[in-house]
Amino acid sequence: MALYSEKVMDHFRNPRNVGFIPDADGVGEVGNAKCGDIMKMYLKIEDDTITDVKFETFGCGSAIASSSMATELIKGRSVSEAMALTNQAVAEALDGLPDYKMHCSVLAEEAIQKALEDYYSRRDQTKSE
Ligand code: FES
Repeated sequence: MALYSEKVMDHFRNPRNVGFIPDADGVGEVGNAKCGDIMKMYLKIEDDTITDVKFETFGCGSAIASSSMATELIKGRSVSEAMALTNQAVAEALDGLPDYKMHCSVLAEEAIQKALEDYYSRRDQTKSE
């Protein structure tokens, strides 16, 4: 069996939603200290729905494929659905990752959660102003 699924290779070669959103409502950046890879997610949120999402990933192929798949999984979804996205769901949607590459999908889960936390804290700040 090939080490990487066709889906992983597809999302690595043609990543979806690469880039940044200048007026994002939430931004989350995470990194893995061991491998040094970095992932940044930008969210645009309207009426509790993720209307746009983009990412910048400086990392391995699995991290790029995971970011790409994660953006596809949360686009058009509610904030709570995005918050509930797990790295396992990302890996499953990619038809699996090798065990030693599972940590790459964790970055995607963490980056989205951090971007949503940023969204919530900005919203709370606006409310209290
Ligand atoms: Fe670090 Fe993939 S090797 S995210």
